[in-house]
Parts: sequence; C-alpha cells; structure tokens
Amino acid sequence: MTVPRRDVLKVGVFGGAALLLPLERTVGAQSALPPRLASSKLPAPFTVPFSVPPVLRTFRTDSTTDYYKVHMMAFQAEVIPGLHTVLWGYNGSVPGPTVHVNQGRRTVMRQINNLPRQHPTLGFTPWTSVHLHGAPSDPQYDGYASDVTNPGQYKDYRYANATSARTLWYHDHGVFHTAEDAQMGLAAQYHIFDQLERSLPIPHGDYDVPLIVSDAMFQPDGSLLIDNHDGSGFFGDVILVNGRPWPAMKVKRRKYRFRLLNASVSRSHNLFLDSGDAMTVIGTDAGLVEHPIRVTSLRAAMAERYEIVIDFSKYPVGRRIVLGNRSPKNNINYVNVDKVMAFDVVADSFDPRDNSIPDTLNPGNPTMALQVRDAVKTRVFEFNRGGGQFTINGRTWEDVVESGFTRVEASPRSDSVELWVFRNSSGGWFHPVHPHLVEFKIVDRNGKPPFPYEVGPKDVVYAAEGDTIRVLIRFEGRGKYMIHCHNMVHEDHDMMTQFEVIDPARASFDPFSVPARALPEGLF
Ligand code: C2O
Ligand code: CU
Ligand code: CU
Repeated sequence: MTVPRRDVLKVGVFGGAALLLPLERTVGAQSALPPRLASSKLPAPFTVPFSVPPVLRTFRTDSTTDYYKVHMMAFQAEVIPGLHTVLWGYNGSVPGPTVHVNQGRRTVMRQINNLPRQHPTLGFTPWTSVHLHGAPSDPQYDGYASDVTNPGQYKDYRYANATSARTLWYHDHGVFHTAEDAQMGLAAQYHIFDQLERSLPIPHGDYDVPLIVSDAMFQPDGSLLIDNHDGSGFFGDVILVNGRPWPAMKVKRRKYRFRLLNASVSRSHNLFLDSGDAMTVIGTDAGLVEHPIRVTSLRAAMAERYEIVIDFSKYPVGRRIVLGNRSPKNNINYVNVDKVMAFDVVADSFDPRDNSIPDTLNPGNPTMALQVRDAVKTRVFEFNRGGGQFTINGRTWEDVVESGFTRVEASPRSDSVELWVFRNSSGGWFHPVHPHLVEFKIVDRNGKPPFPYEVGPKDVVYAAEGDTIRVLIRFEGRGKYMIHCHNMVHEDHDMMTQFEVIDPARASFDPFSVPARALPEGLF
C-alpha cells in the first residue's frame, strides 16, 4: 500500500499553483490569481434553460445486483455561452449521472480513473476516492480519503442499499484534493426508493427533480479559476444549478418535488421564493420527515439535502418565481449570487396524480425516536483553526496519516447510542459537520430546538459561528470512518479525523483492504 502524501510542504491551498507562476506574482494569494472573467461576459440570470442530469444506465444486472461502469474523465463543456471550459465529470457529465435504485437491491459501481495525470493548471495528480454520501457503506467501500485510485486505475465499490428511501450523492474524496476535484465536477446524486416512498401520493417521476446547486468562477479563456482564499474557502461568482448558470425552468401548474443538494465546495445558502410563498420540506439528508414542514426560507450548508415541494398551481401562466439566496454570514459574495434559478409557469397539461402532500409521511423513523436518556456516552468535538490549519479537537487528518491510520478520535460500540457535541467557537467560519456511516437526530443548537426544517434524519449539520450542537447517533457496523467539515477546503486542510465503531464479536474491516487495480493495458 502506498499512501499519498501532501504534494509539497504545507504551502497553503494555493501553494501548488503559485509554484507554477513567475516569482513576482506569488506575493500573497490574491496577487497570484489569474484574471477573472468580467461579469459583463456572464449570461444574464434566467436566460439559460434548466436541465437535469442523465440517469445512469446499468451495463449488467443479475437477480440481486445492478452493475455500473463510471469513467471519471476530462471533457469540454460550454457552461458560459461562447466559452469552453474543461471539466472533470463522472461519464463526462457535470453533475454526474444520477443513480436510481430500489431498497435492498445491491449495486456495484466500477469507478475508473481516466483523468489526466496532472491537473491542467494546479499540477496535482488527481487520485480519487469515491464516497457515497448518505450510505452506511463498509469502510473499504466508503471513499476513505487515503484509499486512492490513481489515474490508470479503477476500483469496484459495493453498496447494499439497505437504508430507507433518501437522496444520497456520490462525490470525490481523494485526500488533500477533494475541493479541487469536486470543483472540477466530480459530484452526482443517487436516489434510493422504497415501498413507503413509492406509496405516497407525493410527486414522482418527471415531477421529482434534482436541484444540485454549486458555484464557479471562470477565467477569460473559459477555464475554471480555483481560488481558495488562503485555505478559507472557494467562492464563485456564478451560481450553477445542475451545472447551468442561473437557469430558468418551465413548470406546469401543479406540485413539484425538488431534491435540493448544496454541492458547493464552500458556499452556504439561505433560500427563499421571491413571491414570499412557503415551500414544504418533506425530506432531510437521510430521508422523509414525519410531517411536512412549511418554511419561507431554508438555510442549506454544503452537502445538506432537503426535499422540498413547491406548489405552482396558484400562479397564473406566465408568472416567474425566483429562487433567491440571502447569503449567510462568512460567504464571499458577488453580484447575482443572491439569485439561484427561476421557475416560469406554463399552460401545458400535466398528469394530475401524485400531486399532494399527506400530513403523515414517515412515522416511526428509528433515528427520530432516539432520546437523550438512550445515550451511553457524550463526546465533544471542537472545530477550530490553529497554526494555519483547520482542526478537530486540535488535530488534523495529517495526524491520522502520520499514525499509520491508527489514531481515532472516538471508539463507539456497535449498537450503542451516543450524544455527540459539535462546537464551533470561532466567529470567522461556519462548518457543516459530517460524520460518515451514521444518520442522527439534532437535539438542540445552543440550547434551543433545531430549526423546524432540521427536524428529520440528518447526516450533516450546519455549525454556524459560535454554535454548540448536540446530536444523537446510533452506531451500527464496524470499522474506521471519517468525520469532517464539509467545506471541502477546510476538509483538505485538514479539518478531518476518524472514529472507529467497535464490535467485540466481529473484526473490523480495514479501509485499505480492497485497493484500486490497474486498468488492463490499452483501456486507459
Ligand atoms: Cu460528502 Cu466525507 O463527505
Ligand atoms: Cu458521507
Ligand atoms: Cu469548516
């Protein structure tokens, strides 16, 4: 096993690129930046049509399993009208193709790293590790950051899909370069369906629509400008939905269900409709909520998923409704990042079925039934910045690497419930906290109940400036899993550590036990 190391010395996020630039331009990250495309060259909001990513097709199925082949590859796309941008996509699509699978059916995803041997401007080697975010995968298939697949290699990821219906996503997790790899386009949705979800009269099929929100910045030649603001975060001036800048979607006069995913590297949103009308939250990260929740705004950090129903039946044909963003604190903003997309109401006829929201959606969810008295242990995780690094309890992923991957921050027992406390005492950053493997119930934030729309099973929680958040988790399975901030720039530098679920009756799986393999000659 060869473990990837950070490329150079710790020269900061931009260091890798700065080294390629003439010396006089390396004084300070800002001055080293290539010029950004003028705002006047960007499309006006709501002039580009909306689209949804393709659904991934199997290349083989048998009685238990769907098999997929995914090529991670570089390709050119016209994201900004008139310009060509090199992106990295799963099967040459950004966002990547959506996986649809029924609960209990197994999937095998062959992830083939066909990326170039070096990033075109930043110069790093794009080793990858694919994480299915939202699934309790075994450690060797969880996208453990240091379990990498180099260009010219592939790895088969095996998933049981045993969980209830939910919106998951798969994205790159390659150690130290997750932010750049995701910014280049390596992210996609993955939907698990189950009987309960299918039986509800909520929007399905054409009216069940992924909304993958991200941001980007471009150079005059069309290439992506990846500026990490000295390691604090990446913030683009273009808001993309499903890879399109500020798109406009034609909607019929009925209800739509949107699977909102904030796939940005660092930008959080606070979304609202410019009509002032309510949206109805029917699902959170880990599935449907018990009762629908009406909200007029919704804060979404990176990696959070919300399933939202918007009812367009009350609007006249021709009406435009804008999904806007009141930017939360500590994002870097540009003109038009206060807009996300538009919905244009059209007269087309529609299928009237599955056009309601029952009062009870998902009763008796085991995660939501957890109580503080069930917890056998309380553990505190401090999210901080120190010595130019982002840390968890003062430590970084580099410390885990240096320990030969033996260092763990916590060792919960399988089948036990714990109360985990996430504390962000800084005023300068917000940190979306994500433990792998588990889903949780938010008990409180700063002693107060969570926001109404957070009352559902979650796997990411927005730890805003100064927040202390308590969550209840039932641990199942065994082995080592990461916990990190989902600002991927923080995660890479190095706000990530691990915990190990202990099952005394069974040995743990080693995250490195299924290494990537070389592609047969001629395939690369
Ligand atoms: Cu969505 Cu460890 O990540
Ligand atoms: Cu995850
Ligand atoms: Cu963070």
